[in-house]
Amino acid sequence: MSAHLPEEFVRRLGGVLGEELPEFLAALAARPVHGLRINTRKATRDGLERALGLRLEPVSWCPTGFVVPGSLGAHLAHRAGLFYLQEPSAMGPAEALGEQPGAVVADLAAAPGGKTTRLAELVGSDGLVAANDVDGRRLRSLHDNLDRWGADNVVTMSLSIDRLAAIAPEAFDAAVLDAPCSGEGLFRRDRDAVREWSPAAVRGAARRQARLLADAARLVRPDGLLIYSTCTFAVEENEERVAVFLAEHPDWEVEDAAAADPAFARGVDVAGQPTERTALLWPHRLRGEGHFVARLRRHRDAPGRRPARRRASDGTRRDPRTRAAWETFRRAHTPGLRVPEDLLVTRDDRIYLRPAADVPLPSDVLVRPGVSLGRARPGRFEPAQALAGLLAADAVSSVATWPDEDPRWAEYLGGAEIPDPGPDAWVLVCAHGWGIGWARRRGGVLKNFLPRALRTRA
Ligand SMILES: C[S@@+](CC[C@H](N)C(=O)[O-])C[C@H]1O[C@@H](n2cnc3c(N)ncnc32)[C@H](O)[C@@H]1O
Repeated sequence: MSAHLPEEFVRRLGGVLGEELPEFLAALAARPVHGLRINTRKATRDGLERALGLRLEPVSWCPTGFVVPGSLGAHLAHRAGLFYLQEPSAMGPAEALGEQPGAVVADLAAAPGGKTTRLAELVGSDGLVAANDVDGRRLRSLHDNLDRWGADNVVTMSLSIDRLAAIAPEAFDAAVLDAPCSGEGLFRRDRDAVREWSPAAVRGAARRQARLLADAARLVRPDGLLIYSTCTFAVEENEERVAVFLAEHPDWEVEDAAAADPAFARGVDVAGQPTERTALLWPHRLRGEGHFVARLRRHRDAPGRRPARRRASDGTRRDPRTRAAWETFRRAHTPGLRVPEDLLVTRDDRIYLRPAADVPLPSDVLVRPGVSLGRARPGRFEPAQALAGLLAADAVSSVATWPDEDPRWAEYLGGAEIPDPGPDAWVLVCAHGWGIGWARRRGGVLKNFLPRALRTRA
């Protein structure tokens, strides 16, 4: 691989790494590292090892993270949301925030959800993650991943960060900005990133990051945290961004992210700011790709612009038929699901389960005000894919499940109807104890309700 690296990239990295450069280049020529994070609501390490038939090798900086021998995206346990595929270094930014029970956190550049799914665990059921991505197409992949993961404390939106900052200044206890970057840390697994790299691309990314970082800071309350991360090594996009940010924002400081793990390297010292407190994750020093993480804290006594708006309307557009249709469905098909009445949000014919924490945002900016439960159709209620991901097999009245090697899986995942004797009902198709999707049994046949975009092509 190193033979194809741009000369200028190698020269620049030589300037940073000195005599470590050959080791770094050798690492880039090796195979990329694969990893996963366990969904702690759905699986344990032992259970997942049994399900996958392999030993999981711990990632020292992430208690739910493990190195695995290859990509496991096709495994049914992945379909059922028991784990999220993520290379180990990309686990660093969420861990830099750490456990924050009850916190209200904005994940500002969230798609496809690698950080969001972990943040949802770190804030717990009393907390909230507001996940945002400006790119509507990428937001769809965030939704797919959230549906599979099954978190009930996430709302989503699709705004540019400057617009969000204007709407909800200082509304968050913490924000994560996993910024778009030149992607040098992905060179080993993504040849397009190598082809698209140029010094001009690095400069362009740095300009954009400067704007995004300043906008992100406006969303955080005094004493709150901002995690800034990239998957690149370029000093202009990393340490320089932090140094300029600190110089321009005297009410912020950088906390030590590098001390979190012995395998993390310290950031390069620039512009007289303590940027050595930032962390660089180098592929030749640990089992993972490349990443940069900075943990920034706003001073406790920073002047507040205005008090955070903690309670906005949930935007319910009540249609009593929607609630009634949901209630009929819930009683018949998901008797094990406990949903507090006051957490239900209806938007015309759709109904959602909103997070227990108050959402500090006007409801009209939320693409999803919570977990989608389903939709009232004429004469029936159609359960959402997100509801399937939330449910365990023991929460529903009717389940279809087969051994992993059963040929009916290929049929179900391909969108086919499947003979299945039994009474007419909505059936949750489950693998490893958790919902993968819905089917409707009629006349002894399962009609397939797996969304088309999630079906495998023959
Ligand atoms: C590095 S990716 C995020 C990866 C994600 N955090 C994860 O862990 O799966 C950067 C994201 O920033 C988004 N983005 C770019 N400019 C943005 C802006 N002005 N506001 C919000 N999101 C933006 C991109 O669409 C892209 O999805």
